[in-house]
Amino acid sequence: MEKIRLTISAASGVEGVVKRELKRLGFGEPPAEFGAISFDAEIADVARLNVFLRAADRVYLSLARFPAATFDEFFDGVKNIPWEGILPQDAKIVVDGKSFLSRLYALSACQSVAKKAIAERMKSACGISVLPESGATVKVFFRILRDVAEISLDTTGTGLHKRGYRDRVGCAPIRENLAAAMVLLSDYYFGRPFADPFCGSGTIAIETAMLALDIAPGLSRRFDFENFPFYPRVYLERAREEAKDKEKRERKISVTASDIDPQAVKMAKRHAARAGVADCIRFEVKDVARFESAERAGVIVTNPPYGDRLLDERRAHALIGELGRRFAALKDWSLFAISADKNFEKAFGRKADKRRKLYNSEKECGFYEYFTKREKENGR
Ligand SMILES: C[S@@+](CC[C@H](N)C(=O)[O-])C[C@H]1O[C@@H](n2cnc3c(N)ncnc32)[C@H](O)[C@@H]1O
Repeated sequence: MEKIRLTISAASGVEGVVKRELKRLGFGEPPAEFGAISFDAEIADVARLNVFLRAADRVYLSLARFPAATFDEFFDGVKNIPWEGILPQDAKIVVDGKSFLSRLYALSACQSVAKKAIAERMKSACGISVLPESGATVKVFFRILRDVAEISLDTTGTGLHKRGYRDRVGCAPIRENLAAAMVLLSDYYFGRPFADPFCGSGTIAIETAMLALDIAPGLSRRFDFENFPFYPRVYLERAREEAKDKEKRERKISVTASDIDPQAVKMAKRHAARAGVADCIRFEVKDVARFESAERAGVIVTNPPYGDRLLDERRAHALIGELGRRFAALKDWSLFAISADKNFEKAFGRKADKRRKLYNSEKECGFYEYFTKREKENGR
């Protein structure tokens, strides 16, 4: 089968999780640099990775790599790509990109140069004077690193966080792929009780249930590669079949999602039903102050409200403090919380065992990890 080069993009702080996912999917341990993980693959993997990756942002198909220290080199390199065999003649071409440690760093200028090079190539190859751009959008992506440009097609389209189950917007919802990354960073595994006491629109609990039941995140959505004339449809059909075969919907799991707001819980139920996991999640309208569990051990992964978005700071700290007290009353539980509040640990009443930096809608957040006693003793 034809060898290709793919690049997976991931949010800062999430690259390690995506690398673990890639390893599990059989892609070894490719290196990550500036939020991108590149490796050789087969053309069928475009569909597989889009369907299976939980924490990634996008999957890019590399078309060319060339030195580009000047705009002339960049223009020629883009124009040398046989676009007429890649893009539909009526494609609406959108160019975007990033540059790191390179002489070409003005992104809007690079966008214009790349677009002009593609248009010139297409017009002369197709014998037309104007590109109609009346068809489906194709996103071309450039990445310039140390004066070497890589030109790719965005095979994903709408970011991979859009699974399709969330059709209503709650208060400060977290992206689906960030929620999945948080669960994958936690010590959750299938069989362990799970709870999110600030569930909002249900994202973290739904992603946990999908993970536990091996339901692929991209099973029911569309991707831009479906519009590529050269991409055989059969690979998406096969990836979906593989995903269906891997599902373990018969598994019994213990996932609880609660929130003080009855409307949020209603929305979470709706989203869980659309994701096909409503029967596996226990929903409750409940104040975090009443959070408890009959289970001896389990894991909480959550996204408490914080001062500048939903509540004033004092009230937000009181809620985080309540979460800390409820957690202290549990036996062998661990807790993982994302928060933009710089005083989270003080409000929680305990220093985290580990802290990472994650980004929630571009906002820098802490991911505070509180392990079980046993995990701490064994040096998790
Ligand atoms: C940042 S949002 C969670 C968003 C959620 N992760 C999602 O993806 O939709 C915080 C949630 O905490 C809930 N909340 C506020 N006060 C609460 C309390 N005392 N007990 C439980 N939930 C509370 C809010 O109703 C809101 O849905």
